[in-house]
Amino acid sequence: MKDKILVIGACGQVGTELVENLQQVYGNSQVVASDVRTSTHEVFTQSEFVQLDVLDKVQIKDVFQKYQPTIVYHLAALLSATAEAKPKLGWELNMDGTFNIFDACLDHQVKRIFWPSSIAVFGPTTPAIHTPQRTILEPNTVYGITKSAGERYCEYYYNRYKLDVRSIRYPGLIGWKSLPGGGTTDYAVDIFHQALKQGQYDCFLGPTTTLPMMHMEDAVRATLEITEAPSNAIKIRSSYNIAGVSFSPEELTQEIQKHIPDFMITYTPDHRQQIADSWPQSIDDHIARADWGWQEKYNLEKLVVNMLDNLK
Ligand code: SER
Repeated sequence: MKDKILVIGACGQVGTELVENLQQVYGNSQVVASDVRTSTHEVFTQSEFVQLDVLDKVQIKDVFQKYQPTIVYHLAALLSATAEAKPKLGWELNMDGTFNIFDACLDHQVKRIFWPSSIAVFGPTTPAIHTPQRTILEPNTVYGITKSAGERYCEYYYNRYKLDVRSIRYPGLIGWKSLPGGGTTDYAVDIFHQALKQGQYDCFLGPTTTLPMMHMEDAVRATLEITEAPSNAIKIRSSYNIAGVSFSPEELTQEIQKHIPDFMITYTPDHRQQIADSWPQSIDDHIARADWGWQEKYNLEKLVVNMLDNLK
């Protein structure tokens, strides 16, 4: 039997690019994209698109019954900054939404699920440099709390019900095909758009705020690779640390200035600074490398060239 893939939260930053890749791997007819929103992006015209609210159990049941997915990517969530503005909704969507989807996956014998976690599971008491896989998890954002609890649930559902969930802790994701929405790392995408459009950017994080980041191409590949890996290779059933590249706004600016010498940056840190300050600067991902062969392709130099070339 051919696999049928359901992507939930498909219109977001990761979903849009993931759907395109899945269409190439499995064929357009095997992919079903779903989201509570609609999108005019071209990828969603190639496969079936269905509206789905992860808080609506009746709708979830209908979608699972109709499409009988064998692999599910559950990406629907509120990101860090948006969840801070709406903490109750952040909790509800990120937690109840996950329970609803995990339960539907159990009811419909889904073979494999991907669920994204984040560097937001770490907090101010976590060692910030080369943050280990197993360390202090005391997140202080509602987004981080839901991701940390979600990780525990991934492991719990695996141990108790043998639900084959795989997960990675995404760093800030940077791509040119889709826009982020409501995250603390969004500056690292926005800066490229503004550099090309205006020649200047006012950054909402301070110049030396170093955060773990990754090119979207690497992130999508990691997502596909961990989901395709044989089950016995996935030894961590909560969520894997993965690293791409770490940099600060200042370092990113210097790299952009190699291509746009007149590019100017100013800094007006806002409420997101506090969130960023609670997160690690770099990530130790040697376990993901050993278990399922994770390897990033983009360093800062390549990332900047790729973003500028494609956005021009
Ligand atoms: N990029 C996300 C955010 O900033 C982190 O997972 O919220």
